[in-house]
Amino acid sequence: MAMASRHQQSAAAAAAAEPPVTVRGDAADPSASRLAQAARDAEFRQLYREAPDFKELSRRDPAFAAVARGRELDFDDAESVVQLTKTLLALDFGLRIELPRDRLCPPVPNRHNYVLWLKGLLDTSSYDAPGRPLVGVDVGTGASCIYPLLACAQRPWSFIATEVDAESARWARRNVESNDLAGRIRVVERAADDALLPLDDLGLGAVDFCMTNPPFYASEAAMRASAEKKARPPHAVCTGATTEMVTDGGELGFVGRILDESLALRGRVRWYSAMLGFLSSAVDLVARLGREGVANFAVAELVQGSKTRRWVVAWSFGPMRPAQHVARGTKAGSAKGGSILPAATEFETTVPTPASVGAFARRLRDTIGALHLLSWRWDEEAMRGHGRAVDRVWARAWRRKRKRETEGVPAGGRGEAAEEDEARCSFGFMVEVRVAVDAVAVRCRWVEGFDAVTFESFQGFLKASVASALEADAPRTRRAET
Ligand SMILES: C[S@@+](CC[C@H](N)C(=O)[O-])C[C@H]1O[C@@H](n2cnc3c(N)ncnc32)[C@H](O)[C@@H]1O
Repeated sequence: MAMASRHQQSAAAAAAAEPPVTVRGDAADPSASRLAQAARDAEFRQLYREAPDFKELSRRDPAFAAVARGRELDFDDAESVVQLTKTLLALDFGLRIELPRDRLCPPVPNRHNYVLWLKGLLDTSSYDAPGRPLVGVDVGTGASCIYPLLACAQRPWSFIATEVDAESARWARRNVESNDLAGRIRVVERAADDALLPLDDLGLGAVDFCMTNPPFYASEAAMRASAEKKARPPHAVCTGATTEMVTDGGELGFVGRILDESLALRGRVRWYSAMLGFLSSAVDLVARLGREGVANFAVAELVQGSKTRRWVVAWSFGPMRPAQHVARGTKAGSAKGGSILPAATEFETTVPTPASVGAFARRLRDTIGALHLLSWRWDEEAMRGHGRAVDRVWARAWRRKRKRETEGVPAGGRGEAAEEDEARCSFGFMVEVRVAVDAVAVRCRWVEGFDAVTFESFQGFLKASVASALEADAPRTRRAET
């Protein structure tokens, strides 16, 4: 299995689109395979927006018809619940699995939601085109090996799938093999006190992401108490072995170990992520990220039906910022004690439609292009540009500093400094002009960088630039009105 990682971003490829961030040239000339990938992704996004229609599933799968009663399914019957999982995996993803009766039976829609969110996270935080091969680690893959199977059915990804329970690992391998995915999914058995992220043990330099659906509970008693409160969804009939559901410190203890390991591994995993069953765990995890100084993170709520809610949290030591709908994907953002959401990555300002939108967009292009940027690429047709800057080059303070620094330096004497600048890109952004019915919106996306204040400062510059681009249009607008 090829394990070379692409976690090092190609700094030169400064072209971001939204969503997702794209690479040079691709936006203008998408290949057939990229279009096919986008169409497939759109289909996968639609899955389970509505609850599955059991009558329809029965029509398409005789094995499901044998357990369903019209539009009803007995969720207290393990056999029926397992069959539902098998049927959805077969019909929607072309996957075949077998599950032991004494292990967790994963509800497909909930697991699919995590994979969808992860795709959005990885797609929108990279200058590379979506759909390229990535390598991930699934910590605690279970007997089903559900996440690697679901993800490999959608993207050309490869996985290290770890498991502490020998019996589950055996079933996971079997499921991988029966789907001909042994070349892409490697099931690795681990001991309980081994590192959760086995990069060093397996000789892996770097991977693109890790994911986990950790054991939820800190004790069997806590698990029973939760079941009695009916806090668990219908699939609770298949909760399986205690080892799957109970771990020291519960889910927060488990994900806390991943966070500890991430503080040592840092950029060797581009995105660390975890699914959590309790909002309080997400709140605590985000608070810990804050204490550790990790400001590039994402939080979202995965909702399935009216009962099941999960939270996903991801964090990165890299500079690439995910799209806002991925990074701030929950309304439960302002938990007691403050917001758990990361800084905004998008900004939009709306102005009245200028006499010539094209001329307005070109003036904006030129104002931004006049800055001392590392790169600025404008797509005339899409009215969208991507820029990268070494510093707040739009700020008066920066211009004054630069003037002082360059005074007396002979022409050509800044070659070395310019190379250093390239390595020090501190802010990457996308600006886009969008035409609505009676207004024009200028949207800006923070794509790269660590400093939210720099993005805020850029918003100020952009608002002023939009105002002056509109101002220049005003005489013509007035003429058009009279
Ligand atoms: C809640 S289950 C999730 C299973 C599967 N990923 C899913 O979503 O259905 C948690 C899994 O983590 C495994 N596990 C617990 N501790 C582990 C460890 N230290 N390393 C790897 N896996 C572990 C358990 O055996 C169990 O299969």
